[in-house]
Amino acid sequence: MNQNQNVFIMDHPLIQHKISLLRNKETGPKQFRELISELAMLMCYEASRDMKLKDVKIETPVGEADSKVLSGRKAAIVSILRAGEGMVSGLLKLIPAAKVGHIGLYRDPETLKPTEYYCKLPSEINERLVFVIDPMLATGGTAVDAISQIKKRGAKDIKFMCIVAAPEGLEALTKAHPDIKIYCAALDKELNDHGYIVPGLGDAGDRIFGTK
Ligand code: URA
Repeated sequence: MNQNQNVFIMDHPLIQHKISLLRNKETGPKQFRELISELAMLMCYEASRDMKLKDVKIETPVGEADSKVLSGRKAAIVSILRAGEGMVSGLLKLIPAAKVGHIGLYRDPETLKPTEYYCKLPSEINERLVFVIDPMLATGGTAVDAISQIKKRGAKDIKFMCIVAAPEGLEALTKAHPDIKIYCAALDKELNDHGYIVPGLGDAGDRIFGTK
């Protein structure tokens, strides 16, 4: 159990079942993509729990209903390239009106620091609830930097969603951005010497896109 109030590790049975299928090395790209999208959708259900509502009256075929509709900030999804792309469709199923942005970072071979090579965000990002997505939170370097860049462009209300997190990544992200809520479908044991999450699921980008 994570002690940080801003960190949510999913315990829903459907999520745990799908994570097991995802981890299996025999799972091919088609099923892997479907599972990543389904997991993102299930996680979005939880991550959207505190969205604001307002009261409305609705005419049903039978009478008037006191009902509720979303009233808070409009949503944006920001996919961290390239593996974040696998999660976009799942979030859009639940929040179809969300605008979608992209951010890409590479590791500078000399400084080893994540360096931005692409960033296109939806308009009025400062007024939106922003879901930043990347399936793997490994060292946390990319997520920390991506969120810093997104904040620099004005975003204030940010949630980060990943499928598998390593303790090292969670610690780095909560330290660098204590104001954001973090949603993980699974928290794994550790990182190996190559920065892969153990047991994890391998290279998420390669498994989504069938590359090697
Ligand atoms: N990125 C991945 O795709 N997998 C890992 O295990 C770590 C980072």
